[in-house]
Amino acid sequence: MRYVFGPMEGVTTSTFRRVHGALFPGCDGYYTPFISPTCDHRFTPRELREVGPERNAGLAVIPQILVKNPEDFLWCAAGLADMGYPEVNLNIGCPSATVTAKGKGAGLLRTPELLDALLEGIFSRSEIPVSVKTRIGYTSPEEFPALLAIYNRYPIHALILHPRTRQEMYAPGTVHPEAWEYALRESRAPLIYNGDLFTPGDAAAFAERYPAQETVMLCRGGAGDPALFRRLKGGPAADREELRLFHDTLFAAYREDLGALNGMRRMKELWHYLISRFEGGERLVKKMARTQDVNEYADIAGTILRELPMRTEA
Ligand SMILES: Cc1cc2nc3c(=O)[nH]c(=O)nc-3n(C[C@H](O)[C@H](O)[C@H](O)COP(=O)(O)O)c2cc1C
Repeated sequence: MRYVFGPMEGVTTSTFRRVHGALFPGCDGYYTPFISPTCDHRFTPRELREVGPERNAGLAVIPQILVKNPEDFLWCAAGLADMGYPEVNLNIGCPSATVTAKGKGAGLLRTPELLDALLEGIFSRSEIPVSVKTRIGYTSPEEFPALLAIYNRYPIHALILHPRTRQEMYAPGTVHPEAWEYALRESRAPLIYNGDLFTPGDAAAFAERYPAQETVMLCRGGAGDPALFRRLKGGPAADREELRLFHDTLFAAYREDLGALNGMRRMKELWHYLISRFEGGERLVKKMARTQDVNEYADIAGTILRELPMRTEA
């Protein structure tokens, strides 16, 4: 099985990927959080910080693009191909209201004719392989067969399926295995599964149920357990010292890239997930969320990392 780290905006940034790849090698690939090109067709400094080749050297990285028209996609994909990327990924899954209101991400699932036109415009002209990351519908899983019929018209390099609807966001217990199984029977594109695999046990159960599946994508599990990809390949869990080193290295890298305050904000995002490794950290994480003082942040993080009992599984 290949295990890839999926995109998480604000979490799996280029800074995160660099530190994660160095301290916890073993992940088979990283998808970047989306970049959303505008019509002036220029990469912003922020986008270059995400996809600049020097910032992603030594890692297998696939950049993700969020658009609603083919021109912006094709411009962006060509620029990324020039940087040396072998593939780009199209985001048709983002459920955030600010994204769907603009008719992008999972917003496209509500208007199949616009989705079809976007794919037609992209696949008739793209010079680089394009994979697609999608959900199974906007409001209901019953939308999926018609959506998959649209995907099946195009030479999609890989279809990454998160079997929830947009309305289900990330709510626990809402993954639809029957939609995944429908895709296994009907998809023309090779499939990558994504959704609610958090532990090596979850991945093993999935592999047992779907033994022919070659690639799965994990996201929140990897943010909560930096050693997850190593463990998926039979390696050990992270001990306290490794987690501390990961935290301190990442925080230092963020401070260098973004400054102390923004670096701290990024670290706080990660703690939503990382705290699952520790027992009884809820109070400290709430206190952490409130502080705007970088030294206080470092003290709280240090207390969690040094003193709280560790969990073997989130
Ligand atoms: C904070 C956060 C940010 C995300 N950002 C992106 C993104 O930029 N692009 C994308 O396709 N999916 C994004 N996702 C969705 C994840 O890639 C993934 O589909 C979802 O978390 C389900 O996988 P998991 O159960 O392994 O976490 C995001 C999810 C979260 C929780």
